[in-house]
Amino acid sequence: MSKLIVANWKMNGSVNQVKADLAAYSASQSTNQPGVVLALPQVYLPLASQLLTQLNAQFKLASQNVSQFNKCGAYTGEVSADMLKEFAVDYIIIGHSERRQIFNESGSVLLNKIEAALLCGMTPIFCIGEDKSLRDQHNYTDFLVQQLELLLQIKLPLTNLVIAYEPIWAIGTGVIPSMEQIDEIMQLIHVFAQNYLPHVKVSVLYGGSVNGKNAQDILSISTVDGVLVGGASLKVDDFSKICAY
Ligand code: 13P
Repeated sequence: MSKLIVANWKMNGSVNQVKADLAAYSASQSTNQPGVVLALPQVYLPLASQLLTQLNAQFKLASQNVSQFNKCGAYTGEVSADMLKEFAVDYIIIGHSERRQIFNESGSVLLNKIEAALLCGMTPIFCIGEDKSLRDQHNYTDFLVQQLELLLQIKLPLTNLVIAYEPIWAIGTGVIPSMEQIDEIMQLIHVFAQNYLPHVKVSVLYGGSVNGKNAQDILSISTVDGVLVGGASLKVDDFSKICAY
């Protein structure tokens, strides 16, 4: 398996679920792979990193968020990239539409978060995606390019980057774009990366209503380097099916 399959549990799960699911994933050949990444709620990452060692697991851990502040200090409720790094976290999801919309995260906050992740040697999974009205007005490509342009402001050395295209209208709705629509945006992101980030290894993911039934088709698109999975990643059977594409 060479594609990246990222599970975004969002604010779901329990200690028991972490123990049971990680045991199941480490016992299966299709899920016990470095290309499988579990983005658990931060509070479960210490337990998950312990289990990773105990189970001799190959899959990786991601955080769903990180503080924009690097230095320890008076930032009540925040968790820094340095702290996450102590728990075997390799990836950080940044710019998810839920963080942009519900928590009003602006471009400058996202840029700080990307730099915080890079400073600690973690790979950002940077999310972009248009809402339904932009899609209907047919000016979604300009909007997506604008979101991508934030990446040009990164001042730190960048070697690896994951970009996830998650159309907001496809998240949690059961509606997915056509394979042509997915391919169009994957190509747009690849071309942007070739033009403006030529020395960076960029992987491009699709996310939004991916499940055990449609993953095979999505992952067979040559421009898709992987998927970012929400709801279906909470069910071992479904997620295992996706990983066994
Ligand atoms: P769903 O797979 O539940 O649509 O969520 C997608 C998502 O937001 C992953 O980050």
